[in-house]
Amino acid sequence: MNSPAPEPSRRGFLGRLWLLLGGVAVAEAAWIVGDFFKPRPRRAVDDGADSIVVAGPVDEFEPGSVTAFPKGRFYLARLADGGFLALHRECTHLGCTVPWIATEDRFVCPCHASSFDITGDVLSPPAPRPLDIFPVRIENDIVKVDVRKPIKRQSFTPSQVVRS
Ligand code: FES
Repeated sequence: MNSPAPEPSRRGFLGRLWLLLGGVAVAEAAWIVGDFFKPRPRRAVDDGADSIVVAGPVDEFEPGSVTAFPKGRFYLARLADGGFLALHRECTHLGCTVPWIATEDRFVCPCHASSFDITGDVLSPPAPRPLDIFPVRIENDIVKVDVRKPIKRQSFTPSQVVRS
């Protein structure tokens, strides 16, 4: 003869309830921590027409000069031979904004002292690679820069320079 199944005790029920609530709390905490450390997508500068920055006429930029375009997040470098490069202003180490130090003829990162020459090439680490570049085009002697997406590069090559 079978005896009836025992009814769950109130204490057992509360124990399982606390276990369930504890599990929910742990899962929520894990989700919050995971979300905090999840890499954020980089902010697009602009869409549509604003993605092209009209820098100005070619003759407005002296050979050997660097001109900042803060809204476009780049520097327009005109090399001594007259060619142009649009250099992303973010350090390739940890992303600090690198100022151009004209008196030293180089970009110097204020965070960990990496430096870059006028082509964006690394002069001193810890930056692992040159400054990123944006595509440049010259139309009717006007310099235009496409700031939608910076291009990573492992080294400077003359083919990156745009000439009129
Ligand atoms: S962020 Fe520029 S050297 Fe570290």
